[in-house]
Amino acid sequence: MRKDFWQAVALSADVGAKPRRILFDGAPVVLFRSDKGIAALFDRCVHRLVELSTGKVINGEIECPYHGWRYDDQGLCTAIPGHVGEVPRYRVRRYGAIERDGIIFVSAGTPEAEPYLHCMQGRDVIVRRVRSSTQSTVLDAAENILDATHTHFTHKGLLRGLSAKRHLVRVEVTGGEGWVEACYTGEERQQGLISRLLEGERTKTIGRFRHPGIAELEYWGKDGLALATTFHLRQADENTVEGVGWLIGPRQGWLGPLKALAFKPLFNIALSQDRKVLKSASDNARHPPLASPAIGPLDFLRRDIAAIMAGEIPPAAATPRVHQIEL
Ligand code: FES
Ligand SMILES: [Fe+2]
Repeated sequence: MRKDFWQAVALSADVGAKPRRILFDGAPVVLFRSDKGIAALFDRCVHRLVELSTGKVINGEIECPYHGWRYDDQGLCTAIPGHVGEVPRYRVRRYGAIERDGIIFVSAGTPEAEPYLHCMQGRDVIVRRVRSSTQSTVLDAAENILDATHTHFTHKGLLRGLSAKRHLVRVEVTGGEGWVEACYTGEERQQGLISRLLEGERTKTIGRFRHPGIAELEYWGKDGLALATTFHLRQADENTVEGVGWLIGPRQGWLGPLKALAFKPLFNIALSQDRKVLKSASDNARHPPLASPAIGPLDFLRRDIAAIMAGEIPPAAATPRVHQIEL
């Protein structure tokens, strides 16, 4: 498996003067602010294996709370209090760590490229950052974000109207190395609260998945982008998906910031509705007999997302698909 990629793990605001522990692919990692910027180390003192994240940051180094051994941003032990003479060479594993646009990224390798941030990167947009934690898998959580068909049920009233009326919609699925997207056209307007408050006429909707666990949605109107989200998901441990990301809106006079403000609480309601169904599925899947979920005729992206996560080229890259559905 290639390791040379960045994964978004926390908001910059999550790591202040105190260190913070995260789980990174099941491994405990401590994030702290060193003199050289954000640092990430395996969260275990080599001495008696205590969590470094329960210690303090002193002069940009992290101090174990048990006997005070200190480690620098590279994971090298720099002090053993009470020991006279040169400090013997001890070290804890370090991870690559950088901070971009209010989000912290960690890597188990040494990526040369800058991390991918969000779908409107470099454009004049308004962003809000969000964080969430869900009992699920990255595959299920990413599919959930990108799945338009659950919104009629899980988010009735919020993302969809109350009536059962549907529209014929064209869905084009395309992909390439490390990405797949579904573009929806033919849906003039959505009747949910979010759309009525924040959007005009909808011209197209795009749902996209990117390696390693990035799910993004773009809502386009006739004047350009209306709303977008890019969510970076990762499997913190077997049952937990952590996500950080951006909510994005166009900057349009005084209305832009106002809409961006309104988007976040509404988005959080949708998020809690999704968390509930994902938890239900995760809890329920444990009962024997074990079953694989059925991939229904409307689950356009499931196989592509699974392929990308496995480091393979998604089927849509070789064979773009067009579907007609009622949405
Ligand atoms: S356990 Fe960390 S200093 Fe002893
Ligand atoms: Fe949802």
